[in-house]
Amino acid sequence: MRMIDIIEKKRDGSALTKQEIEFFIEGYTNGSIPDYQMSSLLMAIFFQNMTDEERANLTMAMVNSGETIDLSAIEGVKVDKHSTGGVGDTTTLVLGPLVAACGVPVAKMSGRGLGHTGGTIDKLEAIEGFHVELTSEQFVKQVNELKVAVIGQSGNLTPADKKLYALRDVTGTVNSIPLIASSIMSKKIAAGAGAIVLDVKTGDGAFMKTTEDARALATAMVRIGNNVGRKTMAIISDMSQPLGRAIGNSLEIVEAIDTLKGNGPDDLTELCLTLGSQMVVVGEKAETLEEAREMLLAVIEDGSALEIFKQFIKWQGGNEKIVDDVSLLPQAAFKFEVPASEDGFITFMEADEIGTAAMLLGAGRATKESEIDLAVGIVLNKKVGDAVSKGESLATIYSNREDVQDVMDKLTKFIDIEAAKKDAPPLIYEVIT
Ligand code: URA
Ligand code: CA
Repeated sequence: MRMIDIIEKKRDGSALTKQEIEFFIEGYTNGSIPDYQMSSLLMAIFFQNMTDEERANLTMAMVNSGETIDLSAIEGVKVDKHSTGGVGDTTTLVLGPLVAACGVPVAKMSGRGLGHTGGTIDKLEAIEGFHVELTSEQFVKQVNELKVAVIGQSGNLTPADKKLYALRDVTGTVNSIPLIASSIMSKKIAAGAGAIVLDVKTGDGAFMKTTEDARALATAMVRIGNNVGRKTMAIISDMSQPLGRAIGNSLEIVEAIDTLKGNGPDDLTELCLTLGSQMVVVGEKAETLEEAREMLLAVIEDGSALEIFKQFIKWQGGNEKIVDDVSLLPQAAFKFEVPASEDGFITFMEADEIGTAAMLLGAGRATKESEIDLAVGIVLNKKVGDAVSKGESLATIYSNREDVQDVMDKLTKFIDIEAAKKDAPPLIYEVIT
């Protein structure tokens, strides 16, 4: 087989065979196919697209390019959730214990990552003593007995994706639905997911800015998952304003606890119920989304979801007392209110910029080496559609530095107040099953 023939075939619009796809993924991973040929093929894919069969084969070829996590010792359908990323997205912290309480095993491998706040692991490390260094035996035992565990990323998963993503980044080929969809799905499958629920965000704070693009990506990923034997569902949700009220690591732990108690922000609660229902259905613990939602509401109501969160903290070495006394979490030294400059209604809160404001306080990492301040962040006291009067607090800043003028300015600039009320955009645009 020759790479040049594969490039020409795709350039001229034909579908590649499974063998051809495996050939270029293997060759590119081991270095026998050079960057210039791979770049050319990526551009051909960008313009000529891929069939459903090609997308499924590309995904599995990337899965098989490296190590995979074997979760077969865990009973039941292992469900993973993936979000394309947003600002203040506290859902993972809530969903783990919530669906575990319904009997769905959550065997989560998670990262730290760059962003406005830390990743799920950073947030959990705001809890004193909490650690994610479990042996695979401990991990399996915990998921079997408690139904939820989080472990740090390990192993050389999907090396083909790592190399391809870096090449796409510098060759104008990131923004291709078959390439994005196979990239995301290969990582979930390599991490051991038996079923997958996807939260594709749309809006200013999201990777996919329009609902059309988000729908195309969500549909592509759902088809790939189902075609490779992983039951997959998706939703398209709004990321034009931050999700929930808290943006920051320990602040989001507090928000997750409130939500598990049934007292969380409406949007975060609704998103967790929607995604959670899909997780319970693909995890084969309920037949319908409606039945699943009833189960989730019941485990919030009777306290069992919160109890699992407590046990989960305890099993992973953390101080579970934080659940009843959140003042045991890291506390910021200073607290400032951001006053409204006039009477009116909130018409817009730019998710990205508000996320950046949290990062300026130290809540997230700008580079891999940056240290995170787990105590700091922002709590929004108003959301789009709310009325405000002059001087009322729009947001509370939790900081460990005394001068927060830069953060104050950013929040004032990117929270719009107008005389006429404007409703918030829908939280969930579509449910794809
Ligand atoms: N995120 C991914 O993981 N892969 C892509 O290709 C794009 C976004
Ligand atoms: Ca939040």
